[in-house]
Amino acid sequence: MNNGKPTTIVIFGASGDLTKRKLLPALFELSREGLLPSQTRIVGFARREKSHEQFRREMQEGVLQFARSKPQSGAAGFDDFFAGLYYHAGTYDDPESFAGLNSLLQELDKASGVTGNRLFYLSTPPSLFFPIISKLGAADLIADIHAEESWSRVIIEKPFGRDLASARKLNRDILSVLHESQVYRIDHYLGKETVQNIMAFRFGNSIFEPLWNRRYIDHVQITVGEAVSVGSRAGYYDRSGAVRDMVQNHILQLVALVGMEPPASFAGNAVRDEKVKVLSSLRPVAAGEGNQLTVRGQYKGGKLGDNVIPDYLSEPDVSDGSRTETYAALKLYLDNWRWSGVPFYVRTGKALAKRISEITIQFRQPPLVLFGHAEHEGHVDGDHMQPNLLSLRVQPNESIRLQFGLKVPGSRMILQPNEMDFCYSDVFHTEQPEAYERLILDAILGESTLFIRDDEVDAAWRYVDTVLNAWQEDSSTPIGTYEAGSWGPAAVDRLLAKDGRKWINL
Ligand SMILES: NC(=O)c1ccc[n+]([C@@H]2O[C@H](COP(=O)([O-])OP(=O)(O)OC[C@H]3O[C@@H](n4cnc5c(N)ncnc54)[C@H](OP(=O)(O)O)[C@@H]3O)[C@@H](O)[C@H]2O)c1
Repeated sequence: MNNGKPTTIVIFGASGDLTKRKLLPALFELSREGLLPSQTRIVGFARREKSHEQFRREMQEGVLQFARSKPQSGAAGFDDFFAGLYYHAGTYDDPESFAGLNSLLQELDKASGVTGNRLFYLSTPPSLFFPIISKLGAADLIADIHAEESWSRVIIEKPFGRDLASARKLNRDILSVLHESQVYRIDHYLGKETVQNIMAFRFGNSIFEPLWNRRYIDHVQITVGEAVSVGSRAGYYDRSGAVRDMVQNHILQLVALVGMEPPASFAGNAVRDEKVKVLSSLRPVAAGEGNQLTVRGQYKGGKLGDNVIPDYLSEPDVSDGSRTETYAALKLYLDNWRWSGVPFYVRTGKALAKRISEITIQFRQPPLVLFGHAEHEGHVDGDHMQPNLLSLRVQPNESIRLQFGLKVPGSRMILQPNEMDFCYSDVFHTEQPEAYERLILDAILGESTLFIRDDEVDAAWRYVDTVLNAWQEDSSTPIGTYEAGSWGPAAVDRLLAKDGRKWINL
């Protein structure tokens, strides 16, 4: 099956890590599965001079190493895919380079008898996003949105801004050249099957939705843990930190999907309208509230699996005395009808005990405790029965688990928590596509549901700016530390303990 109209995909930053590890492997898999439109051409753009042949060889290495189907060179369709790759050397702010690109694209169109549908993928440092877009506009490479015979779309990588002001400026600049419907801001989390499944689970089933509100839900926890140190990305990371790198995008997207109202349809704007409402209802962190609502930390050296890692402050390229957080936990409130008073506790960090992304919904206790309960995990919790928990595991070992109390066999009426679980790999034996496969295909098809709209970016930064400002103002409190391989600084337990709650043991 071929999808969509003939398309030329131009990747800016084609010599980079993302192109080699993710983008070309994703395009290869789409081609292998017959999902790319016929006559798809891929043009790499970067500064270094090289021939089309050299580019093809380099991309082959990446595909052989990283594509999920573990292809062999010479397999059916392999050579045909790479024959459709071209390279154009140029400078990102040089009009001549874009005029040259335009000529190459026209030649390719002419040779294959197609009209110019173009998907531009900006896989470069963010400082180049607007320079590239403005040169595309100036070189007449962006089709009018009303043109019937051809379209132009631009995928923009993350990070999108580093605070509200820079994100707004970038949006304004971009939208001076492109129409919003031509802009595809990527958050690869949304391309993950299990993230899309949050919507399927909520809105494709009727049993949980009536409970999905402040009356039945006690609180929500979201953990996105990474079990690696900053490693070779230390320079980038030190200018960013956990909140900018993970919370502003991935975690707030998970909050939006868990918190949103049912959309009128699954169309791009209907879903995104609902997500914006959630993000706009995030309660700002007021001046002086930073220590009540947030915890930040930096990892100390230690062992992560078989690797010994240094203290964050001793990583190469980390600035002396850096106060960049490698860990952040936040207590969020959505001030809206559905969620009023229900905290969302979120945490993320580098060098943690596990690589794991999981959402847990903790339901309220029954109104009256009628039963005793069995010893659980070696101790008896005298005050409460174990709550009902619904856990959605995004990665790894994607699964959905429901914890509920059951009577322990015997003469006494005592309850013990048990789990019903569903593991994706036990049921669906096909390999899940990589996030980038789904997202690139959606962009080719003009399907924008899984991309971030300008007002979503704005609303997320409006909240995140308040966290960053609270931290900025509090420059005297030392940043907490945590051992590599642990679950974060000690203060993170207190964030929940003071509300009479605790983190789910992952
Ligand atoms: N790598 C990942 O896993 C990952 C994950 C999520 C998001 N991203 C985002 O995806 C984008 C690309 O990531 P990447 O890791 O592939 O980046 P990268 O390797 O650092 O850079 C991509 C390309 O951009 C060009 N470039 C780099 N610095 C430049 C500069 N100062 N001036 C002009 N050109 C420069 C280089 O190409 P030439 O010098 O050959 O022109 C380079 O090959 C970034 O926005 C990143 O934040 C990456």
